[in-house]
Amino acid sequence: MASEKNFFIPPATVCLVETFSFWLLKLDYEIEGIFMNVKDKTAIVTGASSGIGLSTAQLLSKMGAKVALVSRSKEKLEKLSNEIPNSIAVQADMAKVFEIKRMVNEVTERFGRIDVLVNNAGVGYDALAEKIDVDTFHYIFDLDLVGPLAAMQQVIPIMRKQGGGTIINVSSAVALMNLPNNGPYASIKRALSVLSLTAREELKNDNITVSVVYPYITLTNFERNTIRDVPVPESELEPRGPFPPDTAEYAAQKIVEGIESGEAEIFAHDWIKNRVRGNPQ
Ligand SMILES: NC(=O)c1ccc[n+]([C@@H]2O[C@H](COP(=O)([O-])OP(=O)(O)OC[C@H]3O[C@@H](n4cnc5c(N)ncnc54)[C@H](OP(=O)(O)O)[C@@H]3O)[C@@H](O)[C@H]2O)c1
Repeated sequence: MASEKNFFIPPATVCLVETFSFWLLKLDYEIEGIFMNVKDKTAIVTGASSGIGLSTAQLLSKMGAKVALVSRSKEKLEKLSNEIPNSIAVQADMAKVFEIKRMVNEVTERFGRIDVLVNNAGVGYDALAEKIDVDTFHYIFDLDLVGPLAAMQQVIPIMRKQGGGTIINVSSAVALMNLPNNGPYASIKRALSVLSLTAREELKNDNITVSVVYPYITLTNFERNTIRDVPVPESELEPRGPFPPDTAEYAAQKIVEGIESGEAEIFAHDWIKNRVRGNPQ
């Protein structure tokens, strides 16, 4: 009869193995920047018909993820879905909670799981505080804040059941500043960032990571789509800021870095972070 052997692993060996694994992981992170590998993961990207959302969807697909392209423009999404490998088109108005519920159900049925939610759909609204139109403010509130919240509420139970997931909420660098005319948009984006960081704390034990990304001025249709009570001539829609604007591809890279690293806040540039943290470096 074979005798049972008791294996005793000396604590020093355990310690050595743990240290070795830690450094291997760290090395992997430093080389690849990876904590979550997006390959074979399933992702919802809202506002995927244009700009930052489209570039994010393209990048995720290129990295091997399956992507649900979400926005209001059905035909545009269907055309894009034919061009972007492993993607599906799901029409939804992100300012309407019942459409968000239907969208998440449809993605869950078609993909079987949801690993990543990128809440990117959004529109700007420029007005002086004194002149803010309350109905327009309500619309931007519904789209830029309630929409991401409703999408989070739909995916959280699914991610919890799966054992985890990642949620990225796209805020804006202006949410960290007090720029005249930006009050309605910036205040809602700031609320989105507080909501995200609070949810991050609440969900960390469920292995659900919530992060906020702060893009800088980015070359997309955003300025053209921004609602203004006083129309601005086309020539004045050119991006103006202290630094040259970013490309949508650059902003998408930052979003994917956020998915991979799980960092709480991802800033398009260090100067934005330093400005917020009161560090002039
Ligand atoms: N560009 C910038 O300078 C900048 C800077 C900081 C932050 N951001 C943020 O980045 C995100 C993406 O903006 P972008 O620059 O890529 O602008 P964009 O080119 O105008 O794209 C906006 C996207 O949102 C979608 N969208 C708008 N209203 C929607 C609704 N009711 N329901 C569903 N989807 C809707 C649009 O699709 P449909 O029209 O097809 O619905 C489009 O795909 C926004 O949250 C924006 O606030 C942008």
